Amino acid sequence: MTCINIYSPGKDNFAPDRELAARLLELCPVVAQGAAENRQFLIRAIDWVARQGINQFIDVGSGLPTMTNTHEAARAVRPAARVAYVDNDPVVISHARALLSGDGVVAVPGDLREPAAILANPSLAKVIDLREPACLILCAVLHFIDAPTVNAVTAAFTDALAPGSYLVISVARADGEIVSPFTRSYTAGSLHNHSPEQIAGFFAGTEFVPPGLVEASAWPDMAAAPSRPAEAGQLLAGVGRKLS
Ligand SMILES: C[S@@+](CC[C@H](N)C(=O)[O-])C[C@H]1O[C@@H](n2cnc3c(N)ncnc32)[C@H](O)[C@@H]1O
Repeated sequence: MTCINIYSPGKDNFAPDRELAARLLELCPVVAQGAAENRQFLIRAIDWVARQGINQFIDVGSGLPTMTNTHEAARAVRPAARVAYVDNDPVVISHARALLSGDGVVAVPGDLREPAAILANPSLAKVIDLREPACLILCAVLHFIDAPTVNAVTAAFTDALAPGSYLVISVARADGEIVSPFTRSYTAGSLHNHSPEQIAGFFAGTEFVPPGLVEASAWPDMAAAPSRPAEAGQLLAGVGRKLS
């Protein structure tokens, strides 16, 4: 089963994905809104990071090609930006290779729980120079991994990045009665409902850029914060900068 872009159905998805998406939407209608907010956050964050002078992006758990892909968002600001898309789903990688690969853009298979293997991948090394600041993107993927593992993974990635690098993270979570039925219904993998404190901890080794860890739709403009309660589901997001 491949992750479906609920908010952007497109043509690159499959019947089981559509069935799962329909089940989840019935249970929690804000999923579609959250997915759209996630992608919009990702695009705004990449735009912002690119404007800080960053030329290289590693998008881990990149998902199927979508409307505005990471290299398109980055190249809107920095036309020579280089991007490595990484995902552990072979279907995602084959679509990414077909639709996204090109000059300065690669799609490589990799499991985010193995950061050293990802960073040592020769294809990734063709476009990413770890001696220079880079932006690591972990959007809408860390809720599939338990918190201790995420902490180890983000620490390993952050250690490997040059000072001045950025970490872009978004994580879906919820409070209250929705959590158990939603987690049970999500049959494509295991879901972990991280607390806001745990999510803030995933940025260890970096300093939050303003406004910090907020609802994705409120980054960077707090006035755009949604009015829904945490019980309806949250998408917490932030950008951290590695200082040294
Ligand atoms: C919800 S999609 C997010 C796509 C994109 N990052 C976004 O924010 O729009 C999650 C993606 O993470 C990938 N994924 C899940 N677990 C992973 C892992 N352990 N390592 C690498 N990718 C993973 C899935 O295959 C899927 O493509």
